[in-house]
Formats: sequence, structure tokens, C-alpha cells
Amino acid sequence: STNTIYDHFNRPLRDLRISVTDKCNFRCTYCMPAEIFGPDYPFLKRNELLSYEEIERLTKIFVHSLGVQKIRITGGEPLMRKDLPHLINKIKQINGVCDIAMTTNGSLLPKHAQALKEAGLSRVSISLDSLNDEVFGKINGRGVTVKAVMDGIDAAATVGLKVKINMVVKRGMNDHEIIPMAKYFREKGHILRFIEYMDVGNTNKWNLKDVYPKKQIIEDIHQVMPVEAIDPNYTGEVASRYRYIGSDAEIGVISSVSDAFCSTCNRARLSANGTLYTCLFASKGHDLRDPLRSKQSDEQLAEHLQSIWHGRKDRYSVERSESTTKRTKIEMSHIGG
Ligand code: GTP
Ligand code: 5AD
Ligand code: SF4
Ligand code: SF4
Repeated sequence: STNTIYDHFNRPLRDLRISVTDKCNFRCTYCMPAEIFGPDYPFLKRNELLSYEEIERLTKIFVHSLGVQKIRITGGEPLMRKDLPHLINKIKQINGVCDIAMTTNGSLLPKHAQALKEAGLSRVSISLDSLNDEVFGKINGRGVTVKAVMDGIDAAATVGLKVKINMVVKRGMNDHEIIPMAKYFREKGHILRFIEYMDVGNTNKWNLKDVYPKKQIIEDIHQVMPVEAIDPNYTGEVASRYRYIGSDAEIGVISSVSDAFCSTCNRARLSANGTLYTCLFASKGHDLRDPLRSKQSDEQLAEHLQSIWHGRKDRYSVERSESTTKRTKIEMSHIGG
């Protein structure tokens, strides 16, 4: 793109992740622990959220004046927001957007997959951490069954959405399910990505000891089903890819902790209340809602965004240490993962 803006480390902006709500119908222990995200938790109010018109306007500026090419819709759980296909349809019509994806817990897909596909969504990443109802019910904090998510996975595949599965691996929680999950989704024909448990936010009591590192995940799988590393699909791809030897089936590992990928990070995150974050582990963001609502022109907004990206120096995973972990950081449910 002619409008590419580079940051302090010469990284372009390509991928905009838009959170449409901070609410979720799950209470995953590593993301929205129920004892903190209880009935009195102050979720964003309606007038605090960007409207779909505001999101559309910002997205156009990001695409046309900053070089964004990929859009990913996140939450909380994005399907908790009403009329999501309407937003997707608007984004689909923006010239220069080549990919619209969504990260979801899958539970509401049986109801919405068809409309999302028709609106122009191309793919979904569905989170599933276990194949065992007892384990999964505890992880998601709401006793949701594995079948409820599997039905979502099937609904998405049936309407022709491309599907990837995300499994957060936490030592002692579900590391014993790495191989069962790998076998299941190899058979099923969906790409499974293992995500190292990360120190996002400040509520999940993260500890380095709970991280089950990429090297170990790959060794475990390799012993049972031999794999070989393969090249990324594109520069800056988050997951390192592996193929089961002698087949086309692949898996991925997202190794923010043991093998940082900040040097190619081309992602920005827009929270549901209109704050822009240039890193998943940011302590603070840049408010865009006030400028949006104070009658600034598109040109003024574009210049503002360009200067934010231009000054970006984030590389949290490279700098991670005991002291960075204790910083005040934005919560995953606010920033969308
Ligand atoms: P693809 O477009 O399919 O490559 O998607 P993706 O892997 O970028 O998106 P997805 O939302 O499925 O990402 C999976 C998980 O990787 C996210 O939920 C995060 O937990 C993690 N992740 C994504 N981007 C970043 C990043 O920039 N930094 C860190 N530390 N983790 C990230
Ligand atoms: N570490 C790693 N992954 C996480 N996710 C949520 N919280 C964490 C964490 N602390 C994952 C979700 C989902 C995506 C949005 O990020 O399971 O797949
Ligand atoms: Fe909800 Fe996803 Fe967070 Fe779980 S990880 S609480 S499904 S937003
Ligand atoms: Fe990008 Fe921050 Fe993740 Fe590094 S830690 S890859 S800079 S979002």
C-alpha cells in the first residue's frame, strides 16, 4: 500500500483488531475470573461503546490512510453485541480490506454463522481448551459443555467459514490434553493452534511456572505424530506452523512467552470504547472516541493515527521480566486478545 506508516522499529500496520464488546457469556479463569468479573462488574455502558458508524469511519481511515489490510472482530465475546453482521457488511464494503476474521468462543455460532457468512466474514478462530466436560466447564467458569462449542465449530464449517481452533495451554490445567486435542482436530480437518498462557492484564494471577512452552508442546506431539516446521503464510504471522509429516494437516503454536514475535508485530487493537492500543500488554491507550465525537475531519483523525503509529515502540514480549509482569496492564476482555 502507498499509505504504509512505519513505527519506531520499522514495522508497518497491517492488522486492526476491533473489540465490539467487553462482555462475555463465559468466565474463563485465565481471562475473566468469575470472582472479579462478577454481577457488579462495571462493564461498558451503551453510550460508552463506539457505534457501528463510528467503527466503520475509523476503519476506513485505518485502511485508506495507514495501510491496514486485515480486520479481526473480537470481544469479550463479539457475538454478545447485537447486529454484528451489519458491521461486518459495512467493513466488507471498504476498498482495501482483504480479510475479515473473528475470534469467538463459538457458543453463539449455531445461531449466527449463516448471517455472518452472508455479511462477508471469511474466517473464525474458535477457542476450545479441552475435550473433557468437567475440565472445560471449570475453565470456562460457566459449566459450558464441549458439545456447545463443537456445535458452533460445525455451524461455522457448514456455512463455509474457514475455521481455526485456539487452545490456551496452562500447565496443570490442560497440558494433558495437548495430544487428544491434536488428534481430534487433525482428524476433523481444522487447524489447531496452541497458545502459551500469557500475562495479559492483572487479574489472572499469571505465573511463569504455569507456562507450558512451545518446545515442549512440539516435542510431546512429535513423539506420537511426527511434525516438521513449515514457513509462515505471511510475514508477521503470529503462530509458528508445523505440518504432520506426510500429510497436509497442520498445527500452530503461539509462543508469546518462550519465543517472542514482536519484531514483526503489525497489529493494533481498538477497544469497544474507542481506545487504541499498540500492544496487547499496553498499560494505556490512545482515546479516539473524543476526537471522533468532536467533529474532527477524517484528515485530522488520519494524521493523529499516523503519528501514534509512527511513535510506537512496543515490544513487550521481548522485554518481559518479573517487573514488567507486575505493571498495570489492560485486561484481555477489554482489548480482545
Ligand atoms: P490469523 O490471522 O489466523 O493468523 O490469526 P491470529 O493468530 O492473528 O488471530 P487470533 O485471534 O486467532 O490469535 C490467536 C491468539 O494469539 C490471540 O488471541 C492472542 O492470544 C495471541 N496473539 C495474537 N496477536 C498477538 C500479539 O500481537 N501479541 C501477543 N503476545 N499475542 C498475540
Ligand atoms: N493467555 C493466553 N491466551 C489467552 N486468551 C485469553 N486469555 C489468555 C491468556 N491469559 C485467549 C483466548 C482466545 C483468545 C482471545 O485469547 O482463549 O483464544
Ligand atoms: Fe470470554 Fe474468550 Fe475471555 Fe473466555 S477467553 S472469558 S470466552 S473473552
Ligand atoms: Fe505485538 Fe505487543 Fe504482542 Fe509484541 S507483545 S507481538 S508488540 S502485541
